[in-house]
Amino acid sequence: MKISGNTILLSGGGTGIGRRLAQRWHDAGNTVIVTGRTLASLEETIAGRPNLHARVLDVTDPAAIIACAAGITAEFPALNILVNNAGIMRFEDLTAPRDMGDVEATIATNLTAPIRLTDALITHLKAQDHAAVVMVSSGLAFVPMAVTPTYNATKAAIHSYSQSLRHQLAGQVEVIELAPPAVQTDLTPGQSTRANYLPLETFIDQTMALFEQQPTPAEILVPNVLFLRNAEAEGRYAAAFAVLNRDFGHN
Ligand SMILES: NC(=O)c1ccc[n+]([C@@H]2O[C@H](COP(=O)([O-])OP(=O)(O)OC[C@H]3O[C@@H](n4cnc5c(N)ncnc54)[C@H](OP(=O)(O)O)[C@@H]3O)[C@@H](O)[C@H]2O)c1
Repeated sequence: MKISGNTILLSGGGTGIGRRLAQRWHDAGNTVIVTGRTLASLEETIAGRPNLHARVLDVTDPAAIIACAAGITAEFPALNILVNNAGIMRFEDLTAPRDMGDVEATIATNLTAPIRLTDALITHLKAQDHAAVVMVSSGLAFVPMAVTPTYNATKAAIHSYSQSLRHQLAGQVEVIELAPPAVQTDLTPGQSTRANYLPLETFIDQTMALFEQQPTPAEILVPNVLFLRNAEAEGRYAAAFAVLNRDFGHN
């Protein structure tokens, strides 16, 4: 993936990781279109940045994805990068029957939507030079945090899907997986001030430095995520699972 001169479509760009990646890519000389459900937060992201653009898109709406892809490729024909960043994380108690709303919303947002968005843009991307798809997974793709079971499962699925996508698109579209560790954002209540989580700006600085490597690593892994990413390969999966889940044990 080139460092500058790209036209990038990024989902979930109104807050958190998506907002700051969009702004940093803009500042590095890229045109960026941010999407999300909340126009006001998207407008905050783009304020004062001439080559940052905002479009409302609910990624769980299949028809809206098709319409958005058509509109954006018409308006920005140089679009060459898709960043599937939008995501939700819900705590779930599996010990009693429950409403399936959180499960369905999590799968629709975190798994089906990146698949649909990529599908809607694949013909366009394949026709571009230096095309790339960035899939945002999580350290929890590699070791699950038991209180967010469907979230972990969608992120593990994104890791798997990214490998298949990369293999099928080899030589045509680069596929990069960005797997963040725990970062201070508003993804879950209270998370933006949780002391042992990585400050957002530190995460973004480390991530941008990895994106500047040429060729771009297939997996963007900042130091804090290696504890989870490499747990199984390094023979310490059970220990990592225990550490990750010790504060959230169910009796
Ligand atoms: N922060 C962490 O610790 C961490 C760790 C690993 C992975 N990640 C991943 O990083 C990505 C960004 O998360 P974040 O931490 O930056 O949290 P965040 O601030 O909550 O960002 C998530 C963004 O997704 C958007 N979104 C949610 N549902 C959507 C929908 N149906 N349609 C369109 N946009 C939607 C939200 O905007 P609207 O609500 O306005 O639509 C929001 O801007 C997520 O995929 C998350 O799983 C985060």
